[in-house]
Amino acid sequence: MYGLARSLLFCLDAERAHDLSLKAIETAYRTGLNPLVATRPRALPTNVFGIKFDNPVGLAAGLDKNAAHIDALGALGFGFIEVGTTTPRAQPGNPKPRMFRLPEHQAVINRLGFNNGGVDALVANVERSRFKGVLGINIGKNKDTPNENAIDDYLFCLERVHALAGYITVNISSPNTQGLRDLQEEETLRRLIGGICEAGEAHASRHGKRTPILLKIAPDLSELELDSIAEVLLASSIDGLICTNTTTERALVAGHRHAGEAGGLSGKPVFEKSTAVLRGMADRLDGRLPLIGVGGICIGSDAATKIDAGASLVQFYTGMVYKGPALIGDSVEAIRALRSRATA
Ligand code: FNR
Repeated sequence: MYGLARSLLFCLDAERAHDLSLKAIETAYRTGLNPLVATRPRALPTNVFGIKFDNPVGLAAGLDKNAAHIDALGALGFGFIEVGTTTPRAQPGNPKPRMFRLPEHQAVINRLGFNNGGVDALVANVERSRFKGVLGINIGKNKDTPNENAIDDYLFCLERVHALAGYITVNISSPNTQGLRDLQEEETLRRLIGGICEAGEAHASRHGKRTPILLKIAPDLSELELDSIAEVLLASSIDGLICTNTTTERALVAGHRHAGEAGGLSGKPVFEKSTAVLRGMADRLDGRLPLIGVGGICIGSDAATKIDAGASLVQFYTGMVYKGPALIGDSVEAIRALRSRATA
């Protein structure tokens, strides 16, 4: 079923295909036809950050930036859904075209640039939804907010989403907002994470609900940079780490007609790099912080490899473009098999 839809969608520009796919998923959900789109995976309960997940396979940030399709996406069988990145104010993102498929590599390059309707629109959508699963809300800064004031944007979004989110992701790793990745620098990160965690604790006492806060990092960091990030995280009260966002590297897609497009590369070519960062951070954090592994999951066994590398949960985005919702169940089953081998 998805193979046929994919052939049609791949005739369209990548961003149009994306919009149309979301509409189709929404329509299938509203008309009760979603069992035709995806078979819900068998549960594989997983406890992380004090939260119970039906299964450890989630949707990565960026597909539903405004949380406009949570119910429909949830009905596909994801164990959790991460929406956003959202910013304090609505912004249009970069000029089109800004999303490119590289089917020969099962990859996508995007430079969307946090196109979104602003955090208040996202909150209104979340409040309207009936989704009962775990909802991650990914927050960022507006393009025109200078890095010196970035913390104000994160605190603004944090305050708006704290009561509604299952967990919150602090995204400092998109390559498409100029200077954003500089927030990963040790001292800057220490101040940012310190301020965000402190505000998180204050919201927690006010709402009587502690919402875990996670950091999402890039795959393009040196070993020394990873060392200092680990040090900052261990000295903070942050709850977890997501490895990784998209890469700016093009080595594995060199020669492709889209290889020269600016932006973040995702899908199969980022798998090795992203998993190496995950494994490296798992070693450094030594079980003291849970990790979410994302980047290049294209078949079920890729999801199991992320778990084996130290992740407690996994996510994907580009794999959905190439494999459709069947990848959810395949990933759950591969992780189930890994767990039974580990306990045998
Ligand atoms: C993304 N990703 C992303 N990440 C994030 O934290 N905020 C965002 O807004 C977006 N936007 C976005 C748009 C598009 C079109 C893509 C393909 C990706 C990154 C995504 O969540 C994930 O970290 C990477 O894509 C790597 O995983 P996959 O796609 O290889 O499974």
